[in-house]
Amino acid sequence: MDTIHICGGKRLEGEIPIHGAKNSALPLLAATLLAADVSELTNCPQLADVSASIAILRHLGCAVTQTEDRVTVDAAHLHCGYVPDALMRQMRSSIVFLGAIIARCGEAVLTHPGGCELGPRPIDLHLSSLRRLGVTVEEEHGRIRCSASRLRGAEITLPFPSVGATENILLAACTAEGTTVLRHAAREPEIGDLCAFLNACGARIAGGDNGTIVIEGVPRLHGARHRVMADRIEAATYLAAAAATGGTLTLKHCPSLPVSPVFAPLEQAGCAIAAVGEDLHIAAPSRLGGLGAIRTLPYPGFPTDAAAPLLAAACIGEGTTVCVETIFENRYRYVDELTRMGAHIRVDGRVAVVEGVSALRGADVACTDLRGGAALLVAALAAEGETRLTALHHLDRGYENPVGCLQAVGAHITRY
Ligand code: EPZ
Repeated sequence: MDTIHICGGKRLEGEIPIHGAKNSALPLLAATLLAADVSELTNCPQLADVSASIAILRHLGCAVTQTEDRVTVDAAHLHCGYVPDALMRQMRSSIVFLGAIIARCGEAVLTHPGGCELGPRPIDLHLSSLRRLGVTVEEEHGRIRCSASRLRGAEITLPFPSVGATENILLAACTAEGTTVLRHAAREPEIGDLCAFLNACGARIAGGDNGTIVIEGVPRLHGARHRVMADRIEAATYLAAAAATGGTLTLKHCPSLPVSPVFAPLEQAGCAIAAVGEDLHIAAPSRLGGLGAIRTLPYPGFPTDAAAPLLAAACIGEGTTVCVETIFENRYRYVDELTRMGAHIRVDGRVAVVEGVSALRGADVACTDLRGGAALLVAALAAEGETRLTALHHLDRGYENPVGCLQAVGAHITRY
């Protein structure tokens, strides 16, 4: 069983290069299926979830090569539209293959996706939207069989701006007959990145900033090259690590706008954050203040994925921080582990109240999910004494080489 060992209490100082975004790379990899051609992604992070996506692509018949951050997908010869349950269960994003497979093959058979346990994560919006585009969906014994002799553009209004459903609609509608107008679409920056890649492949997608996306169907797409956008949640995690340790960090290759929804609580706690060209700089006070009130919301609101690492920093902030989680039902499973480290947090349903303490202490803790694992890492960096962090498979899904990145800025951290 792998363990990360941290001797906490070291102030972080230096530069961390921000990798490509997991939540952008995964739908982009699915999108490479749409063209019977070769596509290339650069700045693609090396993560367990990316490996899982590549395994799905290979299963479907794609030839995939991965060299460091470059992934090349040749989707010329697909031999099936079936994704086995074992591959579907590896991550939530396996569901975005649905729109791509149905667009390319006319038929898809898969099962419900896996992913972090954050409460119920239905796919009803994905399926009802695909139905609007002319897909017949049959569900039996957990298996989802989708077929469409041809996809037709449609007017779709999402009741909630689901990120995954928006991605699936985009993937299915690019080569549908006619125009699709998608209202109340997700506006997360990763959606913009997907649209940029699809347009580079010959799609005709417009709008998006105001929540309405217009997709004019084209007969076919071709392959394209694309650089995956920077991971705004990895960036938010390292901002939280700097805040928790009184540190000063420069996050390289990290445009500020996508990360900006997390700035206000960190600034309220006394951090100074500035964009310097394509980099992001944070200087934290020696004693952090409270982070005030955080309410997770769809973009451009505060991202649910950044709440856990910021709350971990709040644990040693002087004062109170209140977080209301509006996106997922059960996203505080890591709180019990933080409590082992001396944190004072009360959770009532979707609300967490953190009373900052003067010091956290190292402990043996286990990641409960991806962002919960990141929260424990942040707390351990700030805590007095030693922390041993286990269940690292959660962390490996979404953070590339966190140990190396943190060692380079002065953390005493090793993995064995
Ligand atoms: C994406 O998940 C991200 N995952 C999540 O990041 C992120 O937390 C989430 O968007 C919100 O920003 C990826 O991009 C791979 P949603 P997704 O569809 O697409 C409900 C991380 O840590 N819903 O916007 O699954 C759903 O239950 C992960 O990196 C329905 O009810 O998010 C949830 O309450 C975790 N029916 C809410 O909408 C549906 O059909 C948001 O889900 C779809 C969603």
